[in-house]
Parts: sequence; C-alpha cells; structure tokens
Amino acid sequence: MENRVIIGGQWGDEGKGKIVDALSRDVDWVLRYQGGANAGHTIHLGDQKHVLHLVPSGILHEGVRCLLGGGMVIDPWALRDEMLGLEEKGISVRNRLHVAATAQLLMPYHKRLDEAREEKLKRRSIGTTGRGIGPCYLDKIQRTGLRMGDMLLPADTLERKTIEKVLSANEVLSQSYDADPIPAKVVAEELVVLAQSLGPLVVNAYEALTGVRAGTERILFEGAQGTMLDIDHGTFPYVTSSNSTIGGALTGSGLPPRCLGEINGIFKAYATRVGNGPFPTELLGTEGDELREAGGEYGATTGRARRCGWFDLVQGRYSVDINGMTGVIVTKLDVLDALDTIRVATAYANGEEEITVFPALGEDLPSCRPVYRDFPGWERPVAGCRRLTDLPAAARKYLEFLEQELGTLIVGVSVGRDREEMIWTPTGVTT
Ligand code: IMP
Repeated sequence: MENRVIIGGQWGDEGKGKIVDALSRDVDWVLRYQGGANAGHTIHLGDQKHVLHLVPSGILHEGVRCLLGGGMVIDPWALRDEMLGLEEKGISVRNRLHVAATAQLLMPYHKRLDEAREEKLKRRSIGTTGRGIGPCYLDKIQRTGLRMGDMLLPADTLERKTIEKVLSANEVLSQSYDADPIPAKVVAEELVVLAQSLGPLVVNAYEALTGVRAGTERILFEGAQGTMLDIDHGTFPYVTSSNSTIGGALTGSGLPPRCLGEINGIFKAYATRVGNGPFPTELLGTEGDELREAGGEYGATTGRARRCGWFDLVQGRYSVDINGMTGVIVTKLDVLDALDTIRVATAYANGEEEITVFPALGEDLPSCRPVYRDFPGWERPVAGCRRLTDLPAAARKYLEFLEQELGTLIVGVSVGRDREEMIWTPTGVTT
C-alpha cells in the first residue's frame, strides 16, 4: 500500500474524518499537517460519536501512531481536554500521540485577538471559528510565536517567556481593539502545568519520520479545512490562515515530495460552506434549508448552520488540478436520496461570457452565475449499497458525470455516516 494524502476538495466539512478513519487501519502514521482546533472531524463508530479537533482521526485505530505536524497551531488547553475525552472512552492516546517540537503554540490571547478582530470587521468579518487561528499564524510569520518545543524549557524560563508574550499581546488588545487584557501570570502558570503533561509528547519530527523517508513505514496525511479555504489558493480573504492544499502536506510535515503517494480529494456529493465569502452555487431559501437538514449540516466545531448548494465543477476541476489529485472520494451521496432533480454547475456565466476556469480573485466570484446541468434523482435510499452495481442507475449516471468532468477517478463513495457505509471503487465509477 502506498502513502496517501487526504485533502478537502471544497470548503471543508467534506467528511474527511470518516475517510481517514477508514484508510488508517493499515498505516503506521497519521499526520495532521496544518490548521488547529478550527477543524472538527466527526467519526461515528456504532452508537459512539467522536468529534476530533486536533488529534488525527487515526487515533481510533490501535497501533497507529499520530503526529501533529510542525505546520499546525496547537492550543495546549484544547489538546489536554481532547486527550482526556478520548481516554475516558477507553482509547489509549499517550503512547501513540506525538507533537512536532516546531508546531506553534496557540495561546488564549490568540483567541481573544481573533474575536476582537472579527468584531471590529463587523459586516466584513471572515466568520472565523473563533479558535485563534489567524492571530497564531500571524505570530508564526512575524517570528514571535511560542512553539511546542518551548514546553521542554525549565519551568521558570517558560513562565518568564510566556509572561512576556502575554504582555505584548495585551498591548495590541488594548491599543487596537480596546479589549480586556489576558491575566499573564495565570496563563503562564497554567502553561507550566500543561507542559508537564504535554511535554513528553514533543518529538523531533525529522527523527520520528525516519522510517517514512526510508519507505519502511507508511503514512497517511490528514488534511484539515478544504482547498477553497487555502490562504494562497482559496477565496482570499475569506479563507483560513494555512495551506490546506497539497503544499501544506510538505511544509507542515517536513517530508519530501516522494513520500506523498496517492493524493485523494474528498468532495461532498453537493457543496457546503461555513463562514462568509463567495459560494457561487449556494442555495438560498427552502432548497438550501432542506439540504442542510437532510445532511445535518451544522458545524462540528461551532455548531453554526452551514450554507448549502450544488456541486460546482468549475471549483472542483480547479481543486483537482492544483492539488494533483490522483483520485477523488465522494461523500454523503445518501443526502441526495429524496431529491427528484440534482443540479451540477458545469460553468459560470458572467454577463455574456461563459467561464470554465476558476477565477484567480475571489472578488470576481459574486458576479458569476452558475450554469447548471440537471440530473434526475434516484429517489430511494443508497445507504445499504456496498458495490457500485448496487447503486440505482441514476446515482451511477450522476457519479460518472462527476468523474468524467473532474478528470480523475472516483475511487470511493460514502453512502452513510458509519464506517462500513462505503463503496470502494479503485478503478473508477465509469463502466
Ligand atoms: P479560521 O480558520 O477559524 O480562521 O476561519 C477562517 C474560515 O475558515 C471561516 O470561514 C471558517 O468558517 C472556515 N473554517 C475553518 N476551519 C474550518 C473547518 O474545519 N471546516 C469548515 N470551515 C472551516
């Protein structure tokens, strides 16, 4: 089996958690390479539901080692709580979870800055998850952030360093946002306590991944968010602050390109977006509401209602191309079960002009109207299907069209939320 990268093909929330869980059974490592606790990966196992924000979904398989890569921003308070939650459910974490020394520490002042900035932006706000992601990556880029490796410093040094950082964040909070300061001493003392329990997880990722470079250990890269939320290639400024596209897998892990293996994009059978920003195929009104209810489209991290719309091939082709996807997995096909018509955007119309190439600037998207092709629905449940031939003909036609237009094989189709509700199609869906 090859190594594999799992990347969100749309605006996040494509159901990556379930796919990573299914594919991590046979790997040695599962690595998260970007983002932080803004992610919410939900996995249903029997009647248990696991929502993971920082810990890779691979943790649910005994024997799999998980690494939070150097490209991540890690809130140690959130990490502690997530680990306790898993341990309470009887899942062993400590001996299998590792954190790169170079990952940034996401501190309480990052969250307060995130909230304060969003509040100040008012109508122009990004609609962030409020988890402090942007301010933490800002500290990284301006070379002022604390890192996981700092957790290994002597307690008094860590405390002093933390107090300095909190005080300088407090200046920004009061001068730019008139926001309340963070209690420096309290935060520093808490961090010192956290360092005692999280310090032992800190590793030199270069050393830990020696076997992966040597080809003796297999790895699955777990992407968070989605292609359209990428800081460089998404709908800027309505994006997250990391590279959720393929480049992030390299910079966020420190592994060379030859270790990437298969690159699988995860796409919902329709589309959703949470937060603000352009979304050409968005369905406003009852159609969108019905899709939201059928798909349970409420954020795993914030509980926010997700905006819902049709599959967008202009966006999808862009995503396949810039990530070099070698295969695509379509999720939540069952959510479309009840519909009599399913629409897919094949192009955008801008006045008289027809656009099939995704625009470079997100600002150009609001004036684009989707050009739709309609497909008849299958109007029966697909959750019990386990082979391609079990699917209704209308569902297969829809998938075949997506495969042809995306220009890469659909290698799997998820037909329900449980682990086994999956059809694997390694040779594609077009017969
Ligand atoms: P941030 O990552 O919290 O700064 O949020 C920036 C944008 O990315 C907002 O539109 C968020 O709603 C969106 N976002 C961040 N993480 C996720 C995710 O895991 N799924 C879907 N959207 C996300």
